[in-house]
Amino acid sequence: MDVIILKDGDAVAAEGAVLLRQVLQRKANAVFGLASGRTPLAMYRRLVVDCRDAGLSFREVTTFNLDEYLGLPPGDPQSYRAYMQRELFDHIDIDVSNTFLPECGAGADPLETGPAYEALIRSRGGIDLQVLGIGRNGHIGFNEPTSSLRSRTRIKTLTRETIAANKQYFEDPATQPQLAITMGIATIMDAGHIVLLATGADKAEAVRQSIEGPVSAMWPASMLQLHEKVSVLLDETAASTLALRDYYDWVAEQKRKLFESLEER
Ligand code: F6R
Repeated sequence: MDVIILKDGDAVAAEGAVLLRQVLQRKANAVFGLASGRTPLAMYRRLVVDCRDAGLSFREVTTFNLDEYLGLPPGDPQSYRAYMQRELFDHIDIDVSNTFLPECGAGADPLETGPAYEALIRSRGGIDLQVLGIGRNGHIGFNEPTSSLRSRTRIKTLTRETIAANKQYFEDPATQPQLAITMGIATIMDAGHIVLLATGADKAEAVRQSIEGPVSAMWPASMLQLHEKVSVLLDETAASTLALRDYYDWVAEQKRKLFESLEER
């Protein structure tokens, strides 16, 4: 696990965008797993600017979002589909027919949405790079504490804490869904590279438990310790309670020197 501690949220967004761009340089038809919420917004804005001004192209890209609310009417502005269109897809050259969320269309069986989503991800060759945020309770996607560490895309009931954290987005609390369809933890673990972004002091405890605590379903993101390629991008406040803070900075410094010496050869 690479733990990279950066000055602020802007630096986290910039580094996240670099990691996505690197994948695109190697593979124009990359498959990205994407997250919604507050944390990746600044990174998406950077990608929009790169696409507009710097020749970055998503023309051949496929995306799979982590999750979608269950029970919102199609086109609801609070849906994660609407969020993705508004924040990213409407502003880049992606083919929208290659963008997927675990949406349960009108009249569809929500119990079938998960297995169908898994099959669709497999049919596109799997996810090359998965972007994650993290909940204050350590959730990734909507895999709330005690989610099976081997879970696959399915319906989850949101915790009261998650509902409270997201209620700011719903004018009428009565319309806020309590269920979502989310990729499972095993689905996330199948990605080739996982990039977790965390900014803000309210994420510090979840970050500490997930990186330095035991692997436990009580902190779902702790499962990432078992993945072979994870980049954790943190701002100073999200990293503020890490016990091995000095070590992560030391590792970053050593890696920087190693790559510089390799480039000089
Ligand atoms: C969103 C998602 C969630 C969020 C998490 C953090 O698609 O899957 O796990 O990443 O709740 O949300 P923010 O970034 O709003 O703090």
